[in-house]
Amino acid sequence: MTRKKPVGITDTSFRDAHQSLMATRMKTDHMLGVAEVMDGIGFHSMEVWGGATFDTCMRFLDEDPWERLRKLRGSIKKTKLQMLLRGQNLLGYRHYADDVVEEFIKRAVANGIDIIRIFDALNDVRNMEKAMEVTSREGAHVQVTISYTLSPVHNLEYFTLVARQLVEMGAHSIAIKDMAGLISPYDAFELVTMLKQVGVPVQLHCHYTSGMASMAYLKAVEAGVDVVDTACAPLALGTSQPPTESIAAALRGTPYEPELDLGLLSQASEYFKEIRKSYYIPPEALGVDTDVLSYQIPGGMISNLASQLAQQKASHLLPEVLKEVPRVREELGFPPLVTPSSQIVGSQAVVNVLLGERYKLVSTEVKNYLRGLYGRPPAPVNKELQKKVLLDEEPVSGRPADLISPQLESAKEEIGELAESIEDLISYVLFPPVAESFFRRRKGLLPPLAEEGKNGFAQSSANETAGCGRKHEVNFEQLYTVDKSLLLNDEDNKKYTAYPVG
Ligand code: CO
Repeated sequence: MTRKKPVGITDTSFRDAHQSLMATRMKTDHMLGVAEVMDGIGFHSMEVWGGATFDTCMRFLDEDPWERLRKLRGSIKKTKLQMLLRGQNLLGYRHYADDVVEEFIKRAVANGIDIIRIFDALNDVRNMEKAMEVTSREGAHVQVTISYTLSPVHNLEYFTLVARQLVEMGAHSIAIKDMAGLISPYDAFELVTMLKQVGVPVQLHCHYTSGMASMAYLKAVEAGVDVVDTACAPLALGTSQPPTESIAAALRGTPYEPELDLGLLSQASEYFKEIRKSYYIPPEALGVDTDVLSYQIPGGMISNLASQLAQQKASHLLPEVLKEVPRVREELGFPPLVTPSSQIVGSQAVVNVLLGERYKLVSTEVKNYLRGLYGRPPAPVNKELQKKVLLDEEPVSGRPADLISPQLESAKEEIGELAESIEDLISYVLFPPVAESFFRRRKGLLPPLAEEGKNGFAQSSANETAGCGRKHEVNFEQLYTVDKSLLLNDEDNKKYTAYPVG
């Protein structure tokens, strides 16, 4: 056959895989038990940090995320370490000031990160530029991301345009982030073919949710994709990535065969098989989710909606909510459904259905979104809705972070001596109440965390009363799965989480 072109493998076992299957609960010690073996396998890189891992470390595991990174770096000496970063949102759910972005990335690289994968929920390049600039300056690899979604505006031309812009801004490689597992094998082939023309390496990141991910990888490989993301078999499939072993086996004897030490890979998988038993994996995280194929809504988001409705004792309204989500998404200019836009769209759809009248109430997040504070939506938002919510207020059109004043100095004063390092200070700026409690527990000023909650989802108490009437009290406190203090515009949040409209 033709010249060898082995496809690179990014292993996600220490980040996305356990985030997707077991609510991000894998403990650092469990990682360290296999880290050296993983280091010998020959991965292009290992994704070990970022996404939800940072918050979860402090909130549920009583671990310092920075300490985790340093320990992993200590054991993983050869393989590049990679992290996922939400652009100007860093690892949180709202925009941070540039001084925070700057310091966060400096410290991430200094503590061991080699590759930073940067994305923005709206694919607004202005929300990625600061992070790109600092990553590059610190000598790390700038991987930019296209958040993949399907809509009338999201076509090959659109994605290629965004990719070209990002490469002009200094990106070293491009990742296609298919968080919902929506990309079909033939679309993957076309998209990779187009993106390869932009001139930098292309990487594909899929979730197995719809059952198409391995097929998409195969077609992407044929189109010349440079790297794909997989997880060790026991942590693969379902809402996680395709299994490394299967991809390697499928490509055996072809020019694309990945150069991995299969003996060490199977040793790692044996280990994960055992480790997996200590965590709770909800049945809906496994198998193929056919709802994704019918609704194009990410699996994780559907389970969020289902649990929100269960808390409101209105599970029977799920089919209506699933129909409402695409409408809200269209009115908001077709944002890709990924954090935080998935929460923004999803919660509003729930409220619209629960109240039996659309946009009778809108959340602070929707209001801020319509103000332009999350960035520029892929398509224009519905003007009527915008007017109804903002009244006479003009939406902002510039880069949202330009409106945020520096945050580090005031945070330093607030947290005082509880923050023992610059890393602590950053943890505090990102997750104020979570980090503060963590620091207090560390000092023995608060009792240690209870064991339950550490190993996975709290089992949901979905005690249903069927057939309840149409009128529902909306409890916004329960609608949000994230701390309200983490959401945009704290001032508003101190008063309300909901705005009556009209
Ligand atoms: Co992912």
